[in-house]
Amino acid sequence: MQIPFVNLRRQHEPILADMQAALNHLISSNRLMGGEAIQSFETKFADYLGVCNVVSCANATDALEIVLRAWRIQPGDEIIIPANGWMSAAEAIRLLGATPVLVDNHPNTFNIDLQKLSEKIGARTKAIVPIHLYGNPVDMKQLTGLADSHGLKVLEDCAQAHGASVDTKKVGCWGEVGIFSFYPTKNLGAVGDGGAIATNNNALAERCRAIANHGQLEKHTHTILGRNSRMDAWQAKVLSLKIPYLERWNRRRQQIANHYLESWQKLPIKLPQKNDNAVWHLFVVQVENRDKVRGDLAKLGIQTEVHYPIPVCQQPLFEKFRDPAGYPNAERQAHHVLSIPLYPELTDVEVEYIVAAVKKVTESVVR
Ligand SMILES: Cc1ncc(COP(=O)(O)O)c(C=O)c1O
Repeated sequence: MQIPFVNLRRQHEPILADMQAALNHLISSNRLMGGEAIQSFETKFADYLGVCNVVSCANATDALEIVLRAWRIQPGDEIIIPANGWMSAAEAIRLLGATPVLVDNHPNTFNIDLQKLSEKIGARTKAIVPIHLYGNPVDMKQLTGLADSHGLKVLEDCAQAHGASVDTKKVGCWGEVGIFSFYPTKNLGAVGDGGAIATNNNALAERCRAIANHGQLEKHTHTILGRNSRMDAWQAKVLSLKIPYLERWNRRRQQIANHYLESWQKLPIKLPQKNDNAVWHLFVVQVENRDKVRGDLAKLGIQTEVHYPIPVCQQPLFEKFRDPAGYPNAERQAHHVLSIPLYPELTDVEVEYIVAAVKKVTESVVR
């Protein structure tokens, strides 16, 4: 059996006719950028999250940079981010000339270690950018409490966590602002690039919208230094079509994740923590002899990935921002993490095949 790491064709097959109809409608409407498609998507996603404003943009990396610009982050300002996560937050901070302050990840949750975070808050700290890594929500009650007590802003990176929640409140609604990616493989994915900024702060939303649209608050009047970061109408149409499926897809992800967790309890691998509020963008185990396990699974037809082999704290570009004490958890995780296929379209037969294959391979290889 061959099991690819993701299979978007399967996701799109049941909605292909609707997608084609939407594209036809868009082409005949003559409005390929902006307009009703964008407004409708922004309203639908805002309603889904339970937030007042969603501002669409070209991708999540732009979204991060736009928010930091809207906050007027400057050289000398410090922004706290996790030592392991995707690169975008660190990039956006550096593009503004500000300083990323890296905090080690927690050994069990993979998310920023809140204990260690408080030690890194200093006079120049302006904001915290938690990443809900792999779809596992950061404890936002604790994080926002910490941020509030120090007067810090919070920008949630929800690129991997559409629909995850803490208590009943969705991620992206806890901080002043949250950002989302709609890269095709995300839990809610477009058929190209896309991103969004979610906030209850109307003034911030207006400023972000202007920055993403050449600094125009009014058409042809450029008041802020902006850029072009538009989502195109076709991506907005596809996303609007997919939003009603997101909860069902996330529930299937949770079902598969729980089955993996139950089935692999006794194996010599470290499993991710069970969390019913997680949306399992990735199912990441930690295993000794990772590359051998990966190779053996490939021989059985199972494609795996590594997120991420080189964490932000070990990237050459961020060398000068490294804490000399190092980042033991993030660095250890980088050597051991292995992402096992998990997506809603996996059949029960494929899930059982993966369960059996991981048992077989880890029991023989890891010891
Ligand atoms: C945690 C995280 N943040 C930000 C991004 C950037 O998203 P985009 O590709 O839409 O710029 C990604 C993309 O993989 C991500 O995983």
